[in-house]
Order: sequence, then C-alpha cells, then structure tokens
Amino acid sequence: MDSDLERKRLASNHYIAKDAAGGKLVLAPVNFTQPVKVLDSTTADGTWLLDLATDLLTAPDGAAHVFVGTDINPVPFPAQPPSNFAFHVQDINKE
Ligand SMILES: C[S@@+](CC[C@H](N)C(=O)[O-])C[C@H]1O[C@@H](n2cnc3c(N)ncnc32)[C@H](O)[C@@H]1O
Repeated sequence: MDSDLERKRLASNHYIAKDAAGGKLVLAPVNFTQPVKVLDSTTADGTWLLDLATDLLTAPDGAAHVFVGTDINPVPFPAQPPSNFAFHVQDINKE
C-alpha cells in the first residue's frame, strides 16, 4: 500500500465502517476508564488508532492510554505520531 490513493481509499473505508457501527470504534467491552494499551495489527496509516485516541482524549485519563500500530509495510506510518503512540514493522505470519 504505497500509493496515496490506496491510503485514502482505506481511510474512507474506516469512516464508512465507523458510521455503520453507529459511530463506535470499539464494540468489545473494554474499560477505557483505566489506562490501557491498544494494539492495531495491520494498522496501515493508523487511521483507526488515531481516531480512537481522539475519542478517548475526552475520557478521564484518556492521555494515559498507549497506542501501538503494527504493519508489514511501514511506508504509511505517521511521520510524527503523538508521544503515546508507537508504530512497528511486524509480519503477522511471524512471531
Ligand atoms: C486492508 S489494509 C487494512 C488497513 C487498516 N487496518 C484499515 O482498517 O483501514 C491491510 C493491511 O494489512 C497489511 N498487511 C498485509 N499483510 C500483512 C502481514 N503479513 N503482516 C502484517 N501486515 C500485513 C498491509 O500492509 C495493509 O496495511
């Protein structure tokens, strides 16, 4: 996914899926009132992770969460992510 067009297409898919889920980014019963570490495997450009962080910043201790994105391709990773973000290259078929 090296093309800007493909990155934008995936970002559009994110907002379509979010809308279909009633604006919710997390459907699992996760307690975000405590600091948590969130992993977004195959994150691409981290759209979901960044959007979730934006939502959680309005919650108590939202800034205390840690957000980790992994993908086999680092090209779309944000150049200057927030300090509580980390992006790593990882192939899900390997340990
Ligand atoms: C359809 S995109 C999903 C992007 C994003 N999660 C989203 O929902 O918009 C699939 C992503 O999987 C990554 N990917 C493909 N094979 C992979 C592998 N073996 N290990 C890790 N990431 C992989 C691609 O680089 C691409 O960013």
